[in-house]
Amino acid sequence: MADLSIDFAGIKSPNPFWLASAPPTNSGYQIMKAFEAGWGGAVWKTLGVPVINVSSRYASINYRDTRMAGFTNIELITDRPLADNLREISEVKKYFPDHAVIASLMVETKEQWHQIIKDVENAGADGIELNFGCPHGMCERGMGSAVGQEPAVLKTIVEWVMEVAQIPVITKLTPNISHIVDPGLAAVQGGTDALSLVNTFKSIVGLDLDAYAPYPVVDGKGTNGGYCGPAVKPIALEMVKELAKHPEIQKTPISGIGGIENWRDVVEFILLGASSVQVCTAAMHYGFGIVREMEAGLLQFMDEKGYNTIYDFVGKALPNVTEWKHLNMKHKVVAEINKDKCIGCDLCYIACDDGAHQAIRIPDGTRIPEVIDENCVGCNLCSLVCPVEECITMEKRDDGSQHLTWDERTAAGNIPTTFNDDLAGGKGHYVPDPADALKHRS
Ligand SMILES: Cc1cc2nc3c(=O)[nH]c(=O)nc-3n(C[C@H](O)[C@H](O)[C@H](O)COP(=O)(O)O)c2cc1C
Ligand code: SF4
Ligand code: SF4
Repeated sequence: MADLSIDFAGIKSPNPFWLASAPPTNSGYQIMKAFEAGWGGAVWKTLGVPVINVSSRYASINYRDTRMAGFTNIELITDRPLADNLREISEVKKYFPDHAVIASLMVETKEQWHQIIKDVENAGADGIELNFGCPHGMCERGMGSAVGQEPAVLKTIVEWVMEVAQIPVITKLTPNISHIVDPGLAAVQGGTDALSLVNTFKSIVGLDLDAYAPYPVVDGKGTNGGYCGPAVKPIALEMVKELAKHPEIQKTPISGIGGIENWRDVVEFILLGASSVQVCTAAMHYGFGIVREMEAGLLQFMDEKGYNTIYDFVGKALPNVTEWKHLNMKHKVVAEINKDKCIGCDLCYIACDDGAHQAIRIPDGTRIPEVIDENCVGCNLCSLVCPVEECITMEKRDDGSQHLTWDERTAAGNIPTTFNDDLAGGKGHYVPDPADALKHRS
């Protein structure tokens, strides 16, 4: 069986599954329960300055039948006394010496940083995570994302931390920034041992139409929250990839966070460069037991691919994540409808006619659509809307012998100078006559 253990920037963990700093890591009770269930590590709910929370604190996007497809919170860092948290960190480490307990921290001054680092080291934490991410509440006080959005300030604070830290330091980044490499690089230049991302996205998930206020409504008013859960995974993956590909950052271990809830999500983050993962919303939604599916699925994937450790495939997809200009313009796919599976729902016809390239027709006297090959640009839309699994497949039509990228054309001095370029897909491509849209009137 594959070995799931990791050494993440010096933090040892029996597996790469960590709970992110959030309500599931609010107490020693929860963390011990999670370790019993199979989690390898936990980042303690952020410790720092004294705070007071409001009620209520959470809201979500329920997309069709899916509850909590996106989740938001306006909670601050821990409101439990620091001494209680420190005592419980020590207790957890006594019971679970081989699991990873990481203390998430957020304070303001250099003296406060130095003091709290000593405190958590004395309590026995295996690592520290610097919370430069919260986009609500704490940032109004100059902490959280207020630091994460200012690379120069972030670097200075990382340097303060590195002056005294005896245990590995992970810098947790905010995604509320246009170019994630800027804070990532600043953290690396400040000396951080590792990076983690993403924290939550500044957002408003919806409005109460009677209160005229954003959710969650607190006595008639609301504020922007921090958005997370399955809805944010694509953006988190992109940001992890950006850091993992950067020449000055790629040697720094990355802990991937954002919308992870099953083994497949875990594998995707690892393939894009993460060597540990952290989970919050899914643990809040379904409880700690989800780690069992993650572990079984990851082990089966590694077994099938012949990987012994996760380091055998960390970043393995990165060479295939390229720029648009390197894609082969000679590659050609078209949609194919499996008539035996089709239930005649028309969704593909409507999508292609209204939203794509008018390449599907429904022959008279039937409900089963067919693709007009020469009109199909291979955009995928019909296969995405089709409710029947594998009913519409995208079939390769080129023979693979030709390769031409935009970059190659540019290098050969052969970029289009007119709209008549033979390679322009739109040239001479069928579009109906505008008046055809009015045919139904007659
Ligand atoms: C209710 C709630 C509270 C959170 N509190 C913290 C926190 O104290 N410190 C921190 O670094 N991140 C905090 N986070 C962010 C999570 O650690 C994580 O970065 C984010 O939720 C994305 O992961 P997910 O999509 O798995 O939820 C919180 C998230 C939620 C939902
Ligand atoms: S792939 Fe796009 S263009 Fe082709 S049939 Fe489907 S929706 Fe139409
Ligand atoms: S969307 Fe799928 S099931 Fe519906 S008509 Fe098109 S091919 Fe058939």
